[in-house]
Amino acid sequence: MKKIIINGGNTLSGTISINGAKNSAVALLPASVLCDESSNIYNVPNISDRDVLIEILEKLNCNVIKDEDAIKIDSSKVINTRIPMELSKKMRASYYFMGSLLSRFKHVEIYFPGGCNIGKRPIDIHIKGFEALGAKVQIKGDLYTIDAEELNGANMTLDFASVGATINIMLAAVKAKGRTIIRNAAREAEIVNVATYLNNMGAKISGAGTSVIRIDGVEYLHKGMVEVIPDRIEAGTYIILGAMIGDNLKIENIIPEHIDALLSKLTDMKIKYILEENSVTISKCNDIRPTNLKTAVFPGFVTDMGQPMMVLLTQANGVSMFEETIYENRMGHVKYLNKLGANIKNGNTNAVIIGPSKFYGTEVEATDLRGGAAMVLAGLIAEGTTTITSIEHILRGYDNIIEKLRNVGADIKLIDE
Ligand code: EPZ
Repeated sequence: MKKIIINGGNTLSGTISINGAKNSAVALLPASVLCDESSNIYNVPNISDRDVLIEILEKLNCNVIKDEDAIKIDSSKVINTRIPMELSKKMRASYYFMGSLLSRFKHVEIYFPGGCNIGKRPIDIHIKGFEALGAKVQIKGDLYTIDAEELNGANMTLDFASVGATINIMLAAVKAKGRTIIRNAAREAEIVNVATYLNNMGAKISGAGTSVIRIDGVEYLHKGMVEVIPDRIEAGTYIILGAMIGDNLKIENIIPEHIDALLSKLTDMKIKYILEENSVTISKCNDIRPTNLKTAVFPGFVTDMGQPMMVLLTQANGVSMFEETIYENRMGHVKYLNKLGANIKNGNTNAVIIGPSKFYGTEVEATDLRGGAAMVLAGLIAEGTTTITSIEHILRGYDNIIEKLRNVGADIKLIDE
């Protein structure tokens, strides 16, 4: 069993460089099967979700060549359109193959996806979008069989600005006949990244990054390339760490506009940082102000930063209120923060955090990906040794986390026993 062991309390200084965004890469890799030739994706993070997606691409008969953080996918000879249950369920983003295979082959068989257990996470909005384009969706247990004789552009308004549904419907519409308009589309940067890739291969998508996306269907996608944008959640996680135990800790390779909501919250909390063109430098703040925080869709405060942010709130001088508005069950980490010494009272979607609290190392579990990141932050600020189990959640989304933290002075290691 793999575990992370942390001896907390070290001050961190130096530079952490941010890798490509997990949530972009996990959409770009499935999008690659829309290409009728081959394409290159650069700056792909080295995370276990990447490896699962490559396994799926190979199952579909893509030829995938990895060269450090570059991946070349030859998708000209895709023959399969069925994704086995075991691979579908290994991660959430397997569902992007619904849109891409449907668009190119008018047929896909796939199982309900896996991913972090942070709520029910239905995919009804994706399905409604496919149906609006003319697809027939049959659901037997967890198996989804989606077929279309022809896909035709359609006008639709999403019930909720879902990131996954926006991307999936965009993928499905790329090769549909005529114009699709998606209203109330999600505006997250990952959507722009996917649209940039598809347009580079000849797709006609406009408006990505706004709430109205227009897609004019094309028949063929030629060779193309894209670079994965920097991971704003990875960046935010380390920035928060800097505010608690940094000494001029520099987080570089960021796009400041993508972390605006986090930076303005830090300013609210009287935490100082130096913002440059592509970096943030931050040091320990000794008088953190409490604040109230509510997660929201972009450009609001991203839900994925909520759990790491709660660790910072435990160090504030006073009472903070936290509300999660996207998922019904994203508080699994709280019991472990309390075990470490926090004073948090929580319901399913809200919490009262009474700070400041001193943390003492103990055994904790990574309940999900960002809950796991919260445990790493908590262990690093704690006195003594913290052991984190179920760390496969963390490795799904944080590239090289152990090395990166060791390089800036953390006493952290991964053991496999
Ligand atoms: C993506 O999930 C990310 N995952 C999540 O990353 C992230 O939390 C989320 O977007 C919001 O930013 C990937 O990119 C693989 P949604 P996604 O569709 O697409 C409801 C992380 O930690 N909904 O925007 O699944 C849904 O239940 C994670 O990296 C429906 O009701 O998120 C949720 O309450 C975890 N029906 C809300 O919308 C649908 O058909 C937002 O979901 C689709 C979604």
